[in-house]
Amino acid sequence: MRSPLLLEIDRQEPAALRADLLRELAARPAVVSSKYFYDALGSSLFAAITRLPEYYPTRTEAAIFVRHVDEIAAQLPAGLTLVDIGAGNCEKAASLLRPFRIGRYVAVDISVDFLGDSLSRLQLQHPELPMLAVGTDFSRRLRLPAAIGDGPRLLFYPGSSIGNFTPAQALDFLRQLRQAAQAGWLLIGVDLLKPAAILEAAYDDPLGVTAAFNRNLLLHLNQLIGSDFTLADWRHVAFFDAAQSRIEMHLEARRSLAVHWPGGERAFAAGERIHTENSYKWRSADFSALLGDAGFSGIRHWSDERGWFALFLAQA
Ligand code: AVI
Repeated sequence: MRSPLLLEIDRQEPAALRADLLRELAARPAVVSSKYFYDALGSSLFAAITRLPEYYPTRTEAAIFVRHVDEIAAQLPAGLTLVDIGAGNCEKAASLLRPFRIGRYVAVDISVDFLGDSLSRLQLQHPELPMLAVGTDFSRRLRLPAAIGDGPRLLFYPGSSIGNFTPAQALDFLRQLRQAAQAGWLLIGVDLLKPAAILEAAYDDPLGVTAAFNRNLLLHLNQLIGSDFTLADWRHVAFFDAAQSRIEMHLEARRSLAVHWPGGERAFAAGERIHTENSYKWRSADFSALLGDAGFSGIRHWSDERGWFALFLAQA
């Protein structure tokens, strides 16, 4: 049996990461990048979110795959290198390896620590498939190591993570994906526009899991920059902004307070917010146009009966 190769590239220096975070916290309004949700507890909380009745994207996307996997597979040649961007537990890609007749699997995520175990488990089920894990903060810049090889690639970016970029950032990231695909394909999941009440329930569930996911960011910050955020002082806020077609998540100070860290502090008035996430909801025609602007062609998409989510396949 082969063993997966693990590589870490472009690691951000802790001092640079700290400087980025302090700049974000000092801004008015304060913003913290949503990539900091995903420490070990945050990743488990996100996994719990995907099982909530109100959080429809994960199960809707999975149902589209179940229904259309053969049709999608028929568009693709055998032997492609599947590059799974934001692979996490590699679960989504695992179900595609056989139907898509994949020749090599490359899992990319912010840290190889999260990927090593998932990939070793997957290797047991596919002993002969060459596998590689790449740890890199692809949200800063997508760079893939030469070790991936030169064969035609299928870039896989599911879960509507593209929605966590602004449209301008999304266009830039899609261009990077197109380059990385090396004249291959992109398969990408996109959450579609729908009534605000459905969207708001998905991002403010009655069990409070999304609130915990959002507030855990403060615990992660305490660990990263040595700050003294107290959870009881902050409440989860999520709403749909129709003009921007996006869910916004914030953390709102319940009282006027100051947060300290070695060498600095920031005062917050009661009601002042830290903007933690945007999750854009696209119309399928607008997303097709965005793919076209990024240089993709042969764009096709598959959706569910309610038109809530779409999987796009495009040629680089
Ligand atoms: C990872 N990303 C696509 C999720 C989303 O729906 O925007 C993150 C998330 N935030 C709150 N719930 C889920």
